Amino acid sequence: MFARNSVIALATFDMEIIIQPTAEAATTRAARVIARLLREKPNAVLGLATGSTPLLLYRELIRMKLDWRKVTTFNLDEYVGLAPTHPQSYHSFMRENLFQHIKISMRNVHIPDGMAKNIPASCENYERKITAAGGIDLQVLGIGTDGHIGFNEPTSSLASRTRIKTLTQQTRRDNARFFGSEADVPHHCITMGIGTIMEARQNLLLAFGPKKARAVAEAVEGPITSINPASMLQMHPATKVCLDKDAASQLQRADYYRWVYDNKPGWQQI
Ligand code: GLP
Repeated sequence: MFARNSVIALATFDMEIIIQPTAEAATTRAARVIARLLREKPNAVLGLATGSTPLLLYRELIRMKLDWRKVTTFNLDEYVGLAPTHPQSYHSFMRENLFQHIKISMRNVHIPDGMAKNIPASCENYERKITAAGGIDLQVLGIGTDGHIGFNEPTSSLASRTRIKTLTQQTRRDNARFFGSEADVPHHCITMGIGTIMEARQNLLLAFGPKKARAVAEAVEGPITSINPASMLQMHPATKVCLDKDAASQLQRADYYRWVYDNKPGWQQI
């Protein structure tokens, strides 16, 4: 269930909370972690996320002109019923915001198939492909206002694997901005499970803006509970949480996290 050893030095067995004044500054920290991984392991396996949050990250990674030729990627999720060509599909999102701007082999790109005839078989196959690739070295995560990671909605099993999931009304409302209206947002999705995410060697969760503050505070400082699926990351040995000041605004111990980050001893500077 827990992360395997990595070729790169990982952080300590604590969640690392990185609070920056702006989303741009928090993104720069996250981009550096990914750039370092790709330098140290050119054939790294990256888990990728969609939504507004990683947009800045993808822009920064494109700007950095990294070598993606041997990189393999697995996306967290996709809407059921949306073809890869549908403008709101996560296939389209990834193409437009990352893949068409970098030199990656599309054979190495994996996104759940929202059009699969046999969804359970397709989900099992997705898990098999992750295993065959050697597991995910680093998983990028956003967080929903309800605490979801991927599309693991509240009450998802904390041991769940890739599967079909029903979206909550809150998530469909949150994501309506990408579609014409809320009615156009699919009800179902395929998402990696929390168990799948927990097996990534490293997780990098990004959250920006005041709307995420409550979900972030519950995930970082609340009890581990399926009501806030991101709270399971407290059990992960190498998770970094990159926040702007607004997303960090409900953390009780923000001053402590800031001090820890600003005063890292040399051996911890990774
Ligand atoms: C989406 C995605 C998640 C994402 C989250 C937050 O629906 N499935 O992977 O992290 O919801 O989205 P945003 O970054 O747009 O706030």
